[in-house]
Amino acid sequence: MPTRSTVILGTGSYAPERVLSNDEISQTLDTSDDWIRTRSGIRERRIAAPNEATSDMAAKAAQRALDDAGLKATEIDLLVVATMTPDLPMPAAACIIQRKLGLPSTAACFDLNAACTGFVYALDTACAMLSSGRYQKALVIGAEKLSTIVDWQDRTTCVLFGDGAGAVVVGVSPEPDRGLLGTRLGAFGDSVELLYISHGGSSSPSTPESIARREHCMRMKGKEVFKLAVRVMDEAARDILEQHHLHADQISLVIPHQANLRIIEAISEYLEIPMERFFVNVDRYGNTSAASIPLALDEARRSGRIKTGDITLLVAFGAGLTYGSALIRW
Ligand code: UT7
Repeated sequence: MPTRSTVILGTGSYAPERVLSNDEISQTLDTSDDWIRTRSGIRERRIAAPNEATSDMAAKAAQRALDDAGLKATEIDLLVVATMTPDLPMPAAACIIQRKLGLPSTAACFDLNAACTGFVYALDTACAMLSSGRYQKALVIGAEKLSTIVDWQDRTTCVLFGDGAGAVVVGVSPEPDRGLLGTRLGAFGDSVELLYISHGGSSSPSTPESIARREHCMRMKGKEVFKLAVRVMDEAARDILEQHHLHADQISLVIPHQANLRIIEAISEYLEIPMERFFVNVDRYGNTSAASIPLALDEARRSGRIKTGDITLLVAFGAGLTYGSALIRW
């Protein structure tokens, strides 16, 4: 049980202007709108401009979350950024975002990489730090420029991903049983090779040859990831409901990681929560990894799908393979 309740005070999101449709991709790649839509539910995705970095998208989403919360950047003392596509290998994107937003130098700023589960991990981390009493107001961001790490010649992956950012401002509340009720996080390190980038890190730095083979780009065993994703998201959701003695009927809205509509539909069936109570925007953005849940959360709030007293379930999986679920009472 947290010592202090941690509550979401504001949300924000940002998606780049450029829309890339399935039809446009199929002009240069052996694929089709029909294949992409029926296998994944994706119609289009957003692609950041060449000079638009992850930190630019993140800063825009974060500013909207601050405005929504009615807070100034100078009031934030903790920034946690979930991303696997930081602007630079070093320093952390969080420090670049700190500068762009004008956060004080007394704010703790760092990145966290849990791939597509990153936002749930970052939210849990920030809330634990706030609960400790050592921090008062946190910005938690999920932001990705996945268009820079997908192989645009690999039709089995590139059609699935997009760019974007989402953010929340988190504070503390004296009211018990509000805000983040709990999380369930985990990982299956045995499955690293199901979804990974083999070169460009310390174990295998990029060479001209590895770049020619495009080994600095994402590779995925889609079918195996699909099966594992359905199983672990179902289990992570069930576990957290059980831990908090809640029944699926008490969940007003599920915000799942937006990877594939068929994965979301399978989880809806397993959990016996109808699709009407799932928030879905994968059709418009594709899979934006760590940005997917906060982007969906912001759209859900702004479209009136979350009301005071509601309980929302977040559930995600991603490379690692990581997984996580979270319950929020508004
Ligand atoms: O955040 C985690 C990210 N990862 C995921 O969420 C991925 C989870 N996996 C999936 O979403 C699905 O497995 C995919 C959408 C990637 C693929 O769907 P699938 O139903 O598992 O298709 P498949 O991989 O079994 O491929 C079926 C066929 C293959 O052709 P053959 O071997 O049957 O002749 C593929 O080569 O579809 C072919 N194919 C394509 N055809 C047209 C694969 N990609 C494409 C494409 N366009 N883009």
